[in-house]
Amino acid sequence: MKDAVPQPIHLVDYRPPSHLVEDVHLTFRLSPKGTRVIAKIRFRANPEGLDEGNLRLDGENLRLISLSLNGHPLTALDYLLTPQGLTIPAERLPGPAFTLCSEVEIDPEANTALEGLYTSNGMFCTQCEAEGFRKITFYPDRPDVMAPFTVRIESDLPVLLSNGNPLASGEGWAEWHDPWPKPAYLFALVAGDLVAQSDRFTTASGRDVALNIWVRPGDEDRCDYAMDALKRSMAWDEQVYGREYDLDIFNIVAVDDFNMGAMENKGLNIFNSKYVLASPETATDRDYDWIEGIVAHEYFHNWTGNRITCRDWFQLCLKEGLTVFRDQQFSADMRSAPVKRIEDVLQLRARQFREDGGPLAHPVRPESYVEINNFYTATVYEKGAELIRMLRELVGPDAYAAALDEYFARHDGQACTIEDWLQVFEDVTQRDLSQFKRWYTQAGTPRVSAEWHIADGTLSLTLRQEVPATPGQPLKEPALIPVRLGMLTPEGAEILPDMVIELDSPEVSRSWDLADLAQAAGVSVPQRVIPSLLRGFSAPVVLDAALTPEDRAVLLAHDGDPFNRWEAGRRLLREALVADLAQTRFDTAGVIEALGHAAGDTHLDPAFRALVLSLPSEDDIAQAICDIGLVPDPVAIADAHRALSARMGAALGPLLQRLYAENDPGPAYSPAAEDAGKRALRNTALRLLSLTGDLTLARAQFENARNMTDQVAALSCLIAGGETEAAARFEAQWQGDRLVMDKWFMLQIAQAPRDMALDRAKALTEHPLFDWKNPNRFRSVIGALGQTPAAFHDPSGAGYRFVADWLIRLDGLNPQTAARMSTLFETWRRYDADRQELIRAELERIAATEGLSRDMSEMVARISG
Ligand code: ARG
Ligand code: ZN
Repeated sequence: MKDAVPQPIHLVDYRPPSHLVEDVHLTFRLSPKGTRVIAKIRFRANPEGLDEGNLRLDGENLRLISLSLNGHPLTALDYLLTPQGLTIPAERLPGPAFTLCSEVEIDPEANTALEGLYTSNGMFCTQCEAEGFRKITFYPDRPDVMAPFTVRIESDLPVLLSNGNPLASGEGWAEWHDPWPKPAYLFALVAGDLVAQSDRFTTASGRDVALNIWVRPGDEDRCDYAMDALKRSMAWDEQVYGREYDLDIFNIVAVDDFNMGAMENKGLNIFNSKYVLASPETATDRDYDWIEGIVAHEYFHNWTGNRITCRDWFQLCLKEGLTVFRDQQFSADMRSAPVKRIEDVLQLRARQFREDGGPLAHPVRPESYVEINNFYTATVYEKGAELIRMLRELVGPDAYAAALDEYFARHDGQACTIEDWLQVFEDVTQRDLSQFKRWYTQAGTPRVSAEWHIADGTLSLTLRQEVPATPGQPLKEPALIPVRLGMLTPEGAEILPDMVIELDSPEVSRSWDLADLAQAAGVSVPQRVIPSLLRGFSAPVVLDAALTPEDRAVLLAHDGDPFNRWEAGRRLLREALVADLAQTRFDTAGVIEALGHAAGDTHLDPAFRALVLSLPSEDDIAQAICDIGLVPDPVAIADAHRALSARMGAALGPLLQRLYAENDPGPAYSPAAEDAGKRALRNTALRLLSLTGDLTLARAQFENARNMTDQVAALSCLIAGGETEAAARFEAQWQGDRLVMDKWFMLQIAQAPRDMALDRAKALTEHPLFDWKNPNRFRSVIGALGQTPAAFHDPSGAGYRFVADWLIRLDGLNPQTAARMSTLFETWRRYDADRQELIRAELERIAATEGLSRDMSEMVARISG
C-alpha cells in the first residue's frame, strides 16, 4: 500500500483538543519482540473544545489487542482505525467523562527509528519527543494535553525506571508515579542491566533529592563530571532563576543508540552516552564542555519545557530557545563568559546563518511543517536563544528577571505560545513588543551596514538594515535590532561610553559633539574614529562596516569588548584568505604579526588567545567568497586554508614554541576552564607548527599524552601530516571503546590530506566496527565526509554519491537521523554549474527512492527548492 502524500500542518489550523486527560495508568509487559502495553486513560470533554466531540487518538505501528470504554468491550464497528490512529465518534462515547482501556502489542527490537520504545544493547528505552508516544499506545499525542502518569513495568531486568517518584517495586516489577501533569512527549521508560553512580542534592527549601546516573556496568567510573555538572546546574537554577527541583528523585540514563543529544523527560532524562560518559583518558576538553552544557540544558527544561510546556510544536522555540539561552548563561558563569560567547557565535554562524541563507531558511517559529522532527534546527534552538538574549538586552537584566518570575507564576502547569511569553514581557515592562515579535515570524539573517564620518566637529553614525528574502517570504518588515557599540581613537582609547542603539527602522542616525566626547574620555580630539559595532554580538545579524585592515588591527589590539577584539582578528584572517583566493593584494604578513601580538599577550585568557589564532572554517570562507559575488572552489579553499596555517606556523614559530612550552597545565588533569584553556592554546600552537611540515613535536606529544585532549590533538596533526602509523596505534589502544572509536573514525576523514579523505571514508565503511545503524558511528563517518568540503565537493561527484548512497540506506531504518544529515546538501546553490548539476542529480535520485520517509521527502523537496 502506498502512503498518501503527506500534507503540511499549519499553525493557523490549531484547534484545542476535544478531550483532556484526567490521569493515565500504563502497564508494560516488556519483551524485546512483543511488548504489551495496557493503558487506562480517564478522559473528560474539553470545555474549550471546538469540534464535534469525536475522540481522536494517535497511534502508529500498534497491534490492537483489545479496547473497552467504561469497562465495556468495543468492537470494530465502534471505532475507525487507520495507520495514523483511532477515532471513536461522539455518538459512541458514554458522556463527557469516561475511561478508555486499551491493550496493544509493539515490537521494540524492530524499532530501528529509535523513536517510541526501542532496544539498545539489550536495554529498553524510549524517545517520545516530538511524536514518539503514539508508537507506544493510543493517546492524544499533542503537547497541550497534560496529565499525571502512573506506570507499572513488568520485566526480569534488574533496573526498571519511569518518570516521577518510585511508588513500589518487587521481584520483576516496579511502579512509578509522576504527580506533575505532563504531555506525552515527556514520558520515559528505561529497563536494563544498569548500574548507578548516586549522589544527593538538598534544594533551597530543604527537599532531599536522590540523584542517579545510570550506565552499563563498567562505565560507572565515567560519570563524575556529569554528576558534578548536574549538582551545579541545580544550584545555579535556584540562585539565578529561583527555580527548585520538584521531585524526590532525578535520574539520568546513558544510551548508546540515540538520535539526538539528550531528552528532558520528567525526572528521567535520557542521554546519548557521548554526553554523559567522560574520563580524562577518553574524553576531550570539548566533550567535557558539551557534557556540562547538555546536562544543564536538560535539567533546566524541568521548568522551561516541563512545568511550562508548548501548546503545539510550532511553539518549540518557547522551550528550546529559552533553555539554550539558560544553558549558555550557565556555562558563561562556570567558565569564561567572553570565550563562551565567541564559541556560541561560531556555532551560530556555522549552522544557523548557513541555514538562514539557504533553501531551508524558516522563521524561529515556523508556520507549517510536514515532519516536525525536521524542525529541531539551529534556527529554532540557536537563533531562538539569540532572541531571548536580545530581549534581555532590550529590557535590561532586572526587567528580564521580573518577567521570568511572572512567566513562571502565570503559566506554571500550562501549555503556552510565543504570544503568552511576549505578553508577560509587555505587562512587566509596559513596552510594546510587536516589532520585536517579527524576529519570531520572519526568516533570514538581517544585514546591518554602518557609515560614519566627522564634519565640523560632529561625529555622525548611520546604521541601516535589510532583511533578505527567504523561501516563501519575499518581503520583510524592518526588525528591531539592538546594536551595542563603542568608538575608539586610532591610538586605541575608548572615546564613547558603551551604549545600545535600537535600530528599529530601515535607517537610524546618531551624532555626537566630538570635542565633548574627547573631553569626557580625557583624550585629545581625534582626526578619525574607529567604531566597535555589535559588541558582544548583540544581535544575530551580518554586519558590513567599511573598516580598513588598519582599523581592525587597532580593534584587535585595544577593543574593550573581548568579543569584538576577537572578531577583528577573525575578520582579518577571513580577508587574508579571500584575498588569496581572489588574487587581490593584501598585507597578510601584517595580519599575522598583529595576531601574534594578541596571542602572545599573557594578560589575556589562554582560551581566548587560542581562539585568536584559529582560522575561519573552510565553509565560512566559501560563504565569504559568495558574499563578494564569486563562486567558491572547495579544493582551492582547502589549499589556501592549509597554506595560511603553514605560513602562520612559520612566521610565528618562536612565539608558538614558547606558547607550547609555557602552557602545559601539568600532569594532573582538570576539566575546569583554566587548564582547558591552556591546553587549547598549546594545541593550537602545535597545530600551526605541525602544518609547516615539522611533526617532531606532534610525535612526542602523541607518545606522551596522558589525556584524550592531548592525544587527539597530536593524532590530528599526524594524520594531517600524512602519517598513518599513529592512527593504527590509536586503534589498537582504543578498539574496545565505542566513544573513542567514534573520534578515530571521524579524524581519519576530517584530518586527512584532502585528496585522501574520500577513499578513507569509503574504506572505513568496510571496517568491522563501522556499525552504521548506530547514529554516532554513522555521523562519525558519513557526516565527517560531508563536513570535509574538499572531499565532499570532489569535482567527480563521488563525494556526493557516497553521501547520497548512505542517506538512502539509512533512511530505510532511521529517517530522523538520515533526514537531518541531508542538510549537508543545503548550500548547493553556492557552487559552480557542474557541481550544482551533480548535486541536483543526487537529490533527484534520493527523491525517487521507493518508500522514502516523510522526513527525507520533505527535506529533499525543500533543499531542491
Ligand atoms: N528536547 C530535546 C532537547 O532539546 C531534543 C529532542 C529532540 N527530539 C527530536 N525528535 N527531534 O534537549
Ligand atoms: Zn532542549
